[in-house]
Amino acid sequence: MTFIATDTLSIFDPAARANPQAVYARMRLEKPISGEVGPVSGNTFWFFTRYNDVVAVLKDQRFGKNIREKLPPEIVRRFMPEEPDPMFAVINRHLLELDPPDHTRLRALVHKAFTPRAVQELQPRIQQIAYDLLTDMQSKPEGDLIADYAFPLPVIVIAEMLGVSPEDRNKFREWTNTLLFGMDDEKARFSIMEFMQYMNERIEEREKEDKGDILSGLVQAKEGGDKLDRIELLSMIFLLLVAGHETTVNLIGNGMLALMQHPQQMQKLQQDPDLIKPAVEEILRFNGPVETTTWRWALEDVDMGGVIIPKGDVVLPSLLAANRDPDIFPNPDVFDITRNPNPHVAFGVGIHYCIGAPLARMEGAIAINALLARHPNIALNAPIESLQWNHSLLLHGMKSLPVVY
Ligand code: HEM
Repeated sequence: MTFIATDTLSIFDPAARANPQAVYARMRLEKPISGEVGPVSGNTFWFFTRYNDVVAVLKDQRFGKNIREKLPPEIVRRFMPEEPDPMFAVINRHLLELDPPDHTRLRALVHKAFTPRAVQELQPRIQQIAYDLLTDMQSKPEGDLIADYAFPLPVIVIAEMLGVSPEDRNKFREWTNTLLFGMDDEKARFSIMEFMQYMNERIEEREKEDKGDILSGLVQAKEGGDKLDRIELLSMIFLLLVAGHETTVNLIGNGMLALMQHPQQMQKLQQDPDLIKPAVEEILRFNGPVETTTWRWALEDVDMGGVIIPKGDVVLPSLLAANRDPDIFPNPDVFDITRNPNPHVAFGVGIHYCIGAPLARMEGAIAINALLARHPNIALNAPIESLQWNHSLLLHGMKSLPVVY
């Protein structure tokens, strides 16, 4: 079997970035496991587009994260500098950078903070945050749903989880913007130092006293004699910002887009708001916030059903593609908020399965139902083709979503 990337089937093609599902539909049929040379790095990236292959890769420990320890230096150098920047070392010791047994140990500790009860306790606050944002938007006949609602809501939730007081929220938003979007100049480094210092203070407060928030849970978490050390705590905070923010923005944004494009489904939900649970699952399947998972490397040559993935190559299972696989989902391109069963993989599979999934589901459900209750006639206020999508391979969401209320 040979798999040669062509322009028309290349997932790096700008046309594919604008409409990835069209390309994935063809890839699933014509070259479901597809090695493509990255346009910038020249490294080979292997895309998996069938549901069963995506699940198999994510469960297979021959694909891993910690390449500095597991791959020879000449391969590591293709992806990262020989010596890590000390500042990045502080924020890189987190779950998505680790393999077992380090991952297992850290995840067990983090789990102690993300208990169902701790998440459930956030519910009234999330409801209040949604209510306040909607009140701020009240006087506007139209607006950008991302900037006004989908973006601020998860930032405020994460800020509260981390013990950031309302007065410090604006500073926190600046820091998170720097961390998420611009880490490469001196100003950014200064901003990150400031953020670390701020978070160190919040951690020290919680070492003295349990404040009942998720950060207290992380600081106090113990397994035998083991605890998260300071670098692990700061890395975890960084991961929560990165993994928990834009993903949730996209859940709200992509979800509202799907509902506005399918008015009958939206009406059904408005008539029976209890349908929000299966509706959120269908949004995650139909138009998920994460396109491919984070990178994993083949730690040895791996034979995937006759296709050899060479040691040191990157694999990128596509969650968007798996969630439209007709072998698993009947009529996969139909948006049906009552779909059952719905075994989508929008939160990943295996040991790195999203730890924030219950929180994200709750945020999405509250945000969408509150919005529909306040603005029952909400509609898209721009031609669908004019919507600007982010171009990253990892995240799948819009830069803005013009709506009329
Ligand atoms: C709809 C919103 C979200 C989606 C679609 C989502 C999706 C994902 C996916 C696909 C992964 C696995 C990545 C991989 O295997 O490479 C992941 C991991 C993770 N997510 Fe989420 N996520 C969401 C929201 C959140 C939230 C709100 C938080 C926390 C505040 C969070 C925290 C994490 C963490 C800590 C991991 C790493 C787990 C590990 O490596 O063991 N996520 N998420």
